[in-house]
Amino acid sequence: MKIGGNMSMIITILLSSLMFLVSWVSASNKPSLLHSLKVPAADLSSFQDDLSYSLYHTSCSDVEGIIYRKVKKWVNKDPTLAASLIRLHFHDCSVRGCDASILLDHNGSERWANVSKSLRGFQVINDIKTELEKKCPKTVSCADILTTAARDATVLAGGPFWMIPFGRKDGRVSVAKEASMVPMGRETITSLIEFFQSKGLNVLDLVVLSGAHTIGRSTCESVQHRLYNYKGTNKPDPSINPEYLNYLRRKCRWASENVYLDAKTPKKFDTQYYHNLKKKMGLLSTDQLLYVDSRTKPIADALSFESSLFFNQFSVSMVKLANILDAKSQDNGEIRINCNRVNY
Ligand code: HEM
Repeated sequence: MKIGGNMSMIITILLSSLMFLVSWVSASNKPSLLHSLKVPAADLSSFQDDLSYSLYHTSCSDVEGIIYRKVKKWVNKDPTLAASLIRLHFHDCSVRGCDASILLDHNGSERWANVSKSLRGFQVINDIKTELEKKCPKTVSCADILTTAARDATVLAGGPFWMIPFGRKDGRVSVAKEASMVPMGRETITSLIEFFQSKGLNVLDLVVLSGAHTIGRSTCESVQHRLYNYKGTNKPDPSINPEYLNYLRRKCRWASENVYLDAKTPKKFDTQYYHNLKKKMGLLSTDQLLYVDSRTKPIADALSFESSLFFNQFSVSMVKLANILDAKSQDNGEIRINCNRVNY
């Protein structure tokens, strides 16, 4: 698609403003953020050098084709899986880097933490792994499969495509307690910034990646605290649009019900999520807070203006997310044969 002169100028201006904003936000908040950093920083290293675009060129040449066709088959059958795969990838990379530790299925593993309760898509990854083990045994890691499946799910939902370098190892450790650090939707913006920062992600990444909530759903359990007695006030969260509040109260009678994260275009990967925030229609309190906090609001505003800006930045931030590697997982890692179990 050709972009006209005016349009590219607008995009350039928006991008430069964003970059300026991010550097300004980082600079102005650096001292206080560093002082209050409570989340232990991941053992990030230069392991990014381990990743390569050509890793499977000879050992498993059609790996991306195989993954794409499988994801497409599953998403055609059940479109809700697209969002679930993107979230599964976020949860994987949030603990011990992108090492498929979320897939390990044993007593006390991340998968069994409270925050993982509504994670879905495990069967898609298992199905892809079975196929890949037939075509190129012991070659493609579950972590590489998961990141590629999340990218393909994004594309199938109407979002952007990005290139993926390969070489993530599958970790051999998965601890439920560590998963409890993953945000659940009740945090403050400061703690979200800290959490992202501990993974090497900045404020721009936080606001852009939260845009994944343009598709998918949440259990009502994650929002019920906003509906009647917010912070013990006996009143609903004042930052919810009254009509939306009525809708949510009707929809969320039971904690186990599901409600769309983007009430307007829940199945389309678009900028509607950011427009919803302007109308006080963010589902999670952490979504709505992005439009309250002065560190994040201008970024959310900029992303709502131009979908190509959101798409470009989403790709950039997803690559950063997918390249979070933990030294221990990489060093002691393996190529799992079954994504749900370590090799012995
Ligand atoms: C910024 C901090 C974040 C918080 C607090 C958060 C919180 C949540 C919560 C509470 C849910 C619903 C869980 C439930 O079923 O009750 C959810 C769903 C989801 N999240 Fe996030 N999330 C965050 C960041 C992200 C990121 C970075 C991504 C991906 C890049 C992501 C992708 C998704 C998707 C796609 C869903 C829908 C899943 C589905 O439909 O199965 N989230 N998130």
